[in-house]
Amino acid sequence: MSLKLEGIMESALNICVTYDHTRFGPFVLGRTSIPETGVYSVCCAIQNLWLAARAEGIGVGWVSILSNQDLQRILLIPEHIRPIAYLCLGYVYEFADKPDLEQAGWLPRLGLDKVVYYERWNDNKPA
Ligand SMILES: Cc1cc2nc3c(=O)[nH]c(=O)nc-3n(C[C@H](O)[C@H](O)[C@H](O)COP(=O)(O)O)c2cc1C
Repeated sequence: MSLKLEGIMESALNICVTYDHTRFGPFVLGRTSIPETGVYSVCCAIQNLWLAARAEGIGVGWVSILSNQDLQRILLIPEHIRPIAYLCLGYVYEFADKPDLEQAGWLPRLGLDKVVYYERWNDNKPA
């Protein structure tokens, strides 16, 4: 409970990133076989924003401890538009070497051998 989990009031800029699955009509190349690809694209755009911000010395925090329903109501977002991310951006005092949650002993960083497999699931050795 002592961890700070949002900086909505303190940060210089808040951005709510949304996804409109109706944009460009019902059939969008790349979304026909895997409908979630639209949301994946939005997340890639967020990551690009994050990298660009960090390169400029600006910190980004993704705040997910909020209710999308409340966001939708407060920001007057139409029902068919999905809020994907609520971001807090601003200049920070420092960039820590380790993520806060790892520092606090929440969870350790996983080794690559735990998350990368070769050729087949659970195969930890390259051929
Ligand atoms: C999908 C997602 C949701 C997150 N939600 C929260 C959150 O609700 N509260 C929080 O403190 N950090 C959350 N984080 C982590 C912070 O956004 C991030 O680790 C922190 O701002 C440090 O940024 P840095 O990794 O660029 O140093 C979330 C990260 C992601 C990718």
